[in-house]
Amino acid sequence: MSSHHHRILVLHGPNLNLLGRREPEVYGTMTLAELNREIERFAASKRVKVRIYQSNHEGKLIDLINEHVDWAEGIVINPAALTHYSYALRDAVAAVGIPTVEVHLSDIERREPFRRRSVIKQVCVGQIHGKGLQSYLRGIELLLGEEEG
Ligand code: DQA
Repeated sequence: MSSHHHRILVLHGPNLNLLGRREPEVYGTMTLAELNREIERFAASKRVKVRIYQSNHEGKLIDLINEHVDWAEGIVINPAALTHYSYALRDAVAAVGIPTVEVHLSDIERREPFRRRSVIKQVCVGQIHGKGLQSYLRGIELLLGEEEG
């Protein structure tokens, strides 16, 4: 990413709209609105412009990735359950060629076996899981670090 214009697309997948009330013992009590506010605050402190979207629909997430091909210099995506099986989402990430970080609130390595597999990870510059809000913030940092190296 160029040092003059950091533009990062942040995407939340299915059921993340329910954060706060959804399995709080796994995902915490922070709502999506609160999470997004923290992401925006952090981004502003790093002089990064963010656009944040949530969708329960695979096709909508793919459309958003496609539509931001000329805007986004990086993508932070929590594909939620789509992580584990969506080749269409994986292909969208590969197609646009925008550096992408996959993030998860929970530790997907230590839950049900089906969550250990990600079909998205291989087309991403990294995967960060198990750190709640910090997974997203470190995802942004990872993208910023990509250009400095
Ligand atoms: C999740 C982990 C996924 O396995 C799950 O389907 C989600 C949320 C996480 O952020 O921990 O919906 O992506």
